[in-house]
Amino acid sequence: MRCYASSVIVNLCRSPLISFLYERGWRQNFSRSGFPGPDEEFRMAQEYFKPAEGGLLVDVSCGSGLFSRKFAKSGTYSEVVALDFSENMLRQCYDFIKADGTISEENLALVRADVSRLPFASGSVDAVHAGAALHCWPAPSNAVSYHAIISEICRVLRSGGVFVGTTFLRYSSSMPAIARPLRQLWQQFMARSNYYIEEEIEDLCMSCGLTNYTKNVQRSFIMFSAQKP
Ligand SMILES: C[S@@+](CC[C@H](N)C(=O)[O-])C[C@H]1O[C@@H](n2cnc3c(N)ncnc32)[C@H](O)[C@@H]1O
Repeated sequence: MRCYASSVIVNLCRSPLISFLYERGWRQNFSRSGFPGPDEEFRMAQEYFKPAEGGLLVDVSCGSGLFSRKFAKSGTYSEVVALDFSENMLRQCYDFIKADGTISEENLALVRADVSRLPFASGSVDAVHAGAALHCWPAPSNAVSYHAIISEICRVLRSGGVFVGTTFLRYSSSMPAIARPLRQLWQQFMARSNYYIEEEIEDLCMSCGLTNYTKNVQRSFIMFSAQKP
């Protein structure tokens, strides 16, 4: 079920139609689950990324580059890499950059790659951002593959580098225990079985060797950050 769910999401994200619609209505729907919206999510991420200012930021699973463009325009980083597995998301990202006209191609690169095999040398990256992404990643066996992906992110980070991610939680901590199994069944039915609970995300980060874990939870939205020691 988990494998099926994640492959459906990955294939959806690779389609030209979803890539076109993503920033034209699809992403706005996330606010119904507690996502504060791109401007506020960007502001929150920038706070967590303070130790990485002036360095290389990789926006993994960037989609059509909603946050990559904001990071690049902020002038906070020496270079921003917008990375995604979907060629159509990257094509849409390129079109948005061209249409914007104010983003320098000097410090924003687009890269097609799988998050589980990042094309960067170990310890070469100052910041990794993964917005609304964890629940989309491939999962032949979730615990194993998520561990491999976050270990890969940890590998490319330099010592002191920061990882910031957002995703949908399976349920928020305020949901009564009695309602949680029903919520989980509903999410499996809706092919959303990659949704984690808060503690699982923290355990994953810690077990991959990251430290200083912090989080901000609003309903089913979580933004978490962790640092490479
Ligand atoms: C929901 S979008 C998130 C876009 C953007 N970061 C945001 O915050 O709105 C998730 C993205 O993850 C990408 N993705 C899924 N599996 C991936 C993988 N194995 N490697 C890299 N990107 C992947 C999809 O192509 C999609 O663009």
